Order: sequence, then structure tokens, then C-alpha cells
Amino acid sequence: MKYLVKTFGCQMNEHDSEILAGMMEQIGYEQVERPEDADAIIINTCCVRESAENRIIGYIGNLKKLKEQNPGLIITVSGCMLQQPGAAEKLIKRAPFVDLVLGTHNIHRLPQLISERQGGNESLIEVAETEGDIQEELPVKRQGNIKAQVTIMYGCNNFCSYCIVPFVRGRERSRKPEAIEKEIKCLGAEGFKEVLLLGQNVNSYGLDFTEAFDFADLLERVDRNPDIERIRYMTSHPRDFTQKLVDTISKSQKVCEHFHLPIQAGSNRILKQMNRGYSREMYFELVESIREKVPKASITTDIIVGFPGETDDDFADTLDVIKRVRFDAAYTFLYSRRSGTPAAKMSEQVPAEEKKRRLQILMDLENSISREINEKLVGTREEVLVEGTSKTKDIMFSGRTRTNKIVIFPGNESMIGKLVNVNIMSAKTWHLEGQIIK
Ligand code: SAH
Ligand code: SF4
Ligand code: F3S
Repeated sequence: MKYLVKTFGCQMNEHDSEILAGMMEQIGYEQVERPEDADAIIINTCCVRESAENRIIGYIGNLKKLKEQNPGLIITVSGCMLQQPGAAEKLIKRAPFVDLVLGTHNIHRLPQLISERQGGNESLIEVAETEGDIQEELPVKRQGNIKAQVTIMYGCNNFCSYCIVPFVRGRERSRKPEAIEKEIKCLGAEGFKEVLLLGQNVNSYGLDFTEAFDFADLLERVDRNPDIERIRYMTSHPRDFTQKLVDTISKSQKVCEHFHLPIQAGSNRILKQMNRGYSREMYFELVESIREKVPKASITTDIIVGFPGETDDDFADTLDVIKRVRFDAAYTFLYSRRSGTPAAKMSEQVPAEEKKRRLQILMDLENSISREINEKLVGTREEVLVEGTSKTKDIMFSGRTRTNKIVIFPGNESMIGKLVNVNIMSAKTWHLEGQIIK
């Protein structure tokens, strides 16, 4: 029997898909690339923006034909989208050929439900409203063997006013440090070189413990693992980025000099409406402290344009922040109204055309800054973890610097998974090009 997992959404979802795949293999299924070849298809969904949901609905719609050709095909739809009130029932109505629906807190039940579905005719829906216990020791089928994702905490308590994640992922729950260390130890022994510690807000890690043990303490422990070369984390919230954390990172050997700090907006008025818990001034101070303690640091961000009530002046503040901080890269999004969130009810929604106009201005500015920053790296030497062949030119290899920049260079297969030194010869907006130093 063959299966395929199609993933939409963030890294947390990608990692959930690795677990879904692990469970499928445990019950004897083999992975395939094409939906036509599969006996079971699992679509792991995202609902952070409407555009994501539309793409998913389109993808599911296209599976109807496959189901007609192969009535034994089991179609499962799981994850965030289904965790919204009434979403599972709505989906089954719209796409009655879907066999199983699983909420974000139910993915560990996949094997059981597949076997139940095989014995019956009805579509099965399992969407728990509350979190339940953290499931340890689930099988994982990792993508690749160089970089691994490790969940350190689940859920989010922040309730940023635009965001649906806290509603679909539940409250914050931290994994025990021992469980995390054990997983990373195994990864090191298996030859993985890099770990990405995952959570919606990694720096509130441990706040739910009775003993004092926070994200900085966790990094310090993971840093001692002799087999792992690089440690990254995703995502950190600027409000909770303590001086202790900056100091810990600056002293660590393996935690990479890359800070992804979503600012979301540059105007204090909008930040307040967003319920982000910091001002632009606090953000500038944090950036200053990072630049002082970790001089090589790259800093990237997420920005939303067109939050309800965003005026030209508010938007000008966002552009001003970009010019002042000079981000290495910014992921920019059009505000998307998510039902159930406080911002969806705010009266002054910004017209779609205006949102797009602002987004374009923002992207043009950021692209020119990203390029200028990259150009300054020409002539320097960078340590690169080689990941594989480059997607664009097949004789070229690609990897990342500690600062998370993509570098493309001529190389060979034997370098994959190794750290190499590369002379940077030229710079583009989104990547660098260079030659390996022999
Ligand atoms: N927990 C992370 C990321 C969550 S989602 C954090 O707090 O940074 C990733 C990004 O999607 C967010 O940083 C935000 O920029 C964007 N996003 C979330 N909700 C959105 C919405 N309703 N419309 C547009 N972008 C949104
Ligand atoms: Fe959403 Fe805010 Fe939580 Fe990030 S911190 S997941 S943006 S509510
Ligand atoms: Fe999307 Fe869920 Fe991640 S809504 S962004 S997949 S937590």
C-alpha cells in the first residue's frame, strides 16, 4: 500500500506531516510522489490566511476524480483548517468523498482511524476541542538526513488580534527538556548536523513548568551536544526576547547568528491594536542589543500590511522601521480577515487594492536593502552547511550560512552534509554565489 502526505502551512505543520508519514510507515505503507499512485492521501492543512485555505480547497477538489477511479483510496484531511468551529462538517458536505478528518490534537489517531474507515462506509471526523497530553515517542519519517525539526512546545497563548493560530493550536505546552535532549541525542547519533527547535513562540518555552527552566536554559543544554553543528529556532517573539537569551546565544558555540523577529507593523498604534505587547522603541532596543552582542547577526522579520485601520502614516512607520533596522529579509503578508479573531470585527478594513499597493512598496524597499546587505558580503568567507544540488542549476550545489543565507557554488556529491568554507563572489537579493576554498 502506498501513501502521500501533502503539507500546507508552517514548519510546525511540516513536522506534523513527518509524524503522519512516520505513522503510515509503521502500519506498512510506502511513500510515493504522485497522488495517482497512492492508496492513502493525507492533506495537512493551514488556515493562517484565506489564500492558504483557497489553495487547499482547490487541491482537495482535484482529488474527486482520483477517488472515482479508485474507490478504495482513503483521503484524510488534517490540521489547523479543520480545527475551526464547524469546518470539518462543512468540508464533508462540500467534499463527501473525504474519508477522514483529524484536528490538530488528533493526528496521533491516524492509524486507528484508517483501520476503522477500512471497515465502514461513513466519513469519520475526530476533532478534539482541547489539547490533551503531549504525545511522546510517535514515529517520525524525516525529510532528508542533514537538518531535523524538533518541537519544543505546542500552541500559543498570545492571541495577536489578527491571528487564528491560538484558536486552532490550543494553549502553550512545553515538552520536557529531557525528552527534547533525548530526541536530539538520537538525531546526532544518526548523523544529523542541524536542529531547528520549533514552537509558535519558542521564547515562552518553560513558562508552564513549576521549576524555573526557560528557553535560554534549553539552548545552553542543547549547545553541549557534541554531534550537532548548528542550532536554529523558530519563531521567537520580540516581546519575550530577554537579555539573558541574547547573552546565552552570544556565548553559545552552535546557536546560529540568525534572529527571526517578526515585527508585524512599525506603528505603535497598530502594534497596540495587534496586541503584540511591544513598541517600536522596544524593538529597536532589542535589535541594538543583538547587534552589540552578536555583531555578525542577520535579522529577518514578518510584516503584515493593511491591518484594519492602518493609515498612510502607520504604513510610513513600517517603511521607516525597515530603513532603520535594515532587515536581511522580510516575509510580507497582506492582512487576511480570519473569522473568530478580534481584528476580523474591526470596522475599518483596508481595501484590497490599497493593501496590494502598500505591499508592493514594502517589497521593493526590502528587496533593495536585502541586496545591499548581501553585496557587502562579497569578498568574505562564509561557513556553509551543504544541503544538496541547487534547484536552479543542476551542476551547482547549495547550502546555508550560519546567518541562514543561501549560497550556491560548484561542488560535488561528497560534500553534502558537510561544513565547507566558501569565498563569496557575487550577491543576489535572495542568495549568494561563491567558490569553495580548497
Ligand atoms: N508564531 C509566529 C508565526 C505565526 S504565523 C509569530 O508569532 O511570529 C506566521 C506569520 O503569518 C505571522 O508572523 C504573521 O506575519 C502572518 N499572519 C498571521 N496571521 C495573519 C493574518 N490574519 N493575515 C496576514 N498575515 C498573518
Ligand atoms: Fe499568531 Fe501571535 Fe501566536 Fe504568532 S504569537 S502564532 S502571530 S497569536
Ligand atoms: Fe498555518 Fe497552522 Fe502553521 S494555521 S501557519 S499550519 S500553525
